[in-house]
Amino acid sequence: MKVFVTGASGHVGSAVVPELVRAGHQVLGLARSDSSAKAVRSFGAEVQRGSLDELDVLRQAAASADAVIHLAYKHHEMNTGDFAGANDADLRAIEAMGEVLTGTDKAFIGTSGTLMLAFSDVTDVGTENDPSTKGPRAEAENAVLALANFGVRSSVVRLPPSVHSSLDHAGFVPALIAIARAKGRAGFVGDGLNRWPAVHSLDAACLYRLAMEAAPPGSRLHGISDEGVPFREVAQAIGQNLNVPTVSVKPEDAADYFGFLAFFVPVDNATSSTRTQELLGWNPVHPGLVDDINEGHYFTSAAS
Ligand SMILES: NC(=O)c1ccc[n+]([C@@H]2O[C@H](COP(=O)([O-])OP(=O)(O)OC[C@H]3O[C@@H](n4cnc5c(N)ncnc54)[C@H](OP(=O)(O)O)[C@@H]3O)[C@@H](O)[C@H]2O)c1
Repeated sequence: MKVFVTGASGHVGSAVVPELVRAGHQVLGLARSDSSAKAVRSFGAEVQRGSLDELDVLRQAAASADAVIHLAYKHHEMNTGDFAGANDADLRAIEAMGEVLTGTDKAFIGTSGTLMLAFSDVTDVGTENDPSTKGPRAEAENAVLALANFGVRSSVVRLPPSVHSSLDHAGFVPALIAIARAKGRAGFVGDGLNRWPAVHSLDAACLYRLAMEAAPPGSRLHGISDEGVPFREVAQAIGQNLNVPTVSVKPEDAADYFGFLAFFVPVDNATSSTRTQELLGWNPVHPGLVDDINEGHYFTSAAS
């Protein structure tokens, strides 16, 4: 199949594009700069130059493909306070690509986060049956799923807050390591028993491919291999590898310690992927979050 991939140059894209190419698919990857184009080519894909804001480019590329995987997201804008702008751009991109896919039965795989379940007041282990009713990316997630009512084989992959591997240079784990290094201690909030789900980037990539090949329309898919790692275990692994103490941070001091991550760190977000694994025969095989942190690659990369 010919697959148009937005965000092809990013962390998840750098796992998804090679996975698609290895499986014999032809990939057209969106790139907004020369350096992104170079990265996309190095993964074995052709390049579609353009940005998320060039909606005609997105429409044309989506129409030319047999399937679309949408990974691009304005993280820089989100991290610098313009969460609303990042979500608005995401929604407009989804609408533009959805428009040209309407009535084609082609696959459109969108990306959301399991954190939406925590924001949607899911207090038990979140499942694929739980809708995202609140949270910054709920509207975009539901817009992708709604395309299933208009002749698009649309589905959403919900990723956990930590997609981890040696391909991860700017996600939450490198950010937590950078904070711990700067503060000289690795923090968790309160008792640190709140749980974070996680997945290895290469397992996530396999799920995107399976979703594109076979997910039924309207599927909510969970890219989760660790159902819920107590956050204090994540902090302990970081502390041990940096050789700094692991400490509890009071909730009222979390913003000062974690900066923008204070919004995410204390969230209890245990999430299951049992239905996804059964539906698509997906079988995550790569190391879990704590083992991956302990492999050491995060502590030798320039980003952390
Ligand atoms: N990684 C995680 O732990 C995690 C967790 C939950 C959800 N997610 C979601 O998974 C998706 C992929 O994440 P990621 O980790 O791969 O992110 P990433 O490494 O930050 O990559 C983001 C991608 O989006 C592209 N992009 C950003 N702004 C753009 C714009 N204005 N026009 C065109 N392309 C633009 C980037 O292109 P450049 O190379 O040019 O910058 C890059 O290819 C995102 O929706 C993300 O929010 C990720």
